Amino acid sequence: MSLEQILAWIPPGSPDEALAQQVNFEQLPSHVAIIMDGNGRWAAQRQLPRVKGHRAGIDSVRDVLETSARLGIEVLTLYAFSVENWKRPRAEVDMLMMLLKRYIRLEIGFINKHNIRFRAIGRLDELAPDVQAALDLGVRKTEQNTGMQFNIALNYGGRAEIVDAARRAIEAGLAPEALDEQRFGDLLYTGGQPDPDLLIRTSGEMRVSNFLLWQIAYSEIWVTETLWPDFRRRDLLHAVLDYQKRDRRYGGIKSTSLALGVK
Ligand code: IPE
Ligand code: IPE
Ligand code: MG
Repeated sequence: MSLEQILAWIPPGSPDEALAQQVNFEQLPSHVAIIMDGNGRWAAQRQLPRVKGHRAGIDSVRDVLETSARLGIEVLTLYAFSVENWKRPRAEVDMLMMLLKRYIRLEIGFINKHNIRFRAIGRLDELAPDVQAALDLGVRKTEQNTGMQFNIALNYGGRAEIVDAARRAIEAGLAPEALDEQRFGDLLYTGGQPDPDLLIRTSGEMRVSNFLLWQIAYSEIWVTETLWPDFRRRDLLHAVLDYQKRDRRYGGIKSTSLALGVK
């Protein structure tokens, strides 16, 4: 939750320590969202089956969770499986679901140790019952935690989420004039959470692939060529440092111009 927390975990004198020391803790992104991409390419580069890339990606998840929690980031959302990913071969989909169940079983202790609250977002009712049961267990076992919120996006689609929010508004009998951006945002899966300040995509792809379409309206985007299984603490620190150099204008004018009184 602070410089001390992160330094306690980084070998003294390492390049990561120098990076951590540059972070401005007054200006952390509240919500970081990550499109974890490139597992298949990572495996292909090593002449391995794609599933080995997915497996290796779990180490990156652990590292990024710990880095984010120690920095004091409020919300971390990881894109694990899109509504479009069902188009993949059945064997790959089955393996991804198996890895997810195993992930929860094996990592729940780690998540608890770091006081992290686990949640899944997406069309969860379309997932197999055993996957839903694993997710429920993850939620129940971490709901008392008070630290970082960890959302895993599963069977997630940004458009599907917007349609689901519209359905909820209709079901709730909301009058058209009662609906505004704030109200609509509250009906999304991420209702009540801040929008992502920083959106990261690994493996160099310059697209959003149906991720958090509503919420990323003003997110700062950071793309790295690094493939997800190679992504570690130093990469996240680089992303945060780059984010802290951005001038977020939200359609207004440069904040330095304001300070200079430029009209
Ligand atoms: C990301 O890696 C993981 C999921 C989408 C489940 P990919 O499997 O998309 O890897 P590439 O893009 O083929 O390299
Ligand atoms: C986006 O990656 C989805 C996840 C990371 C879960 P994809 O690999 O599915 O995206 P595209 O197909 O390259 O757009
Ligand atoms: Mg991909």
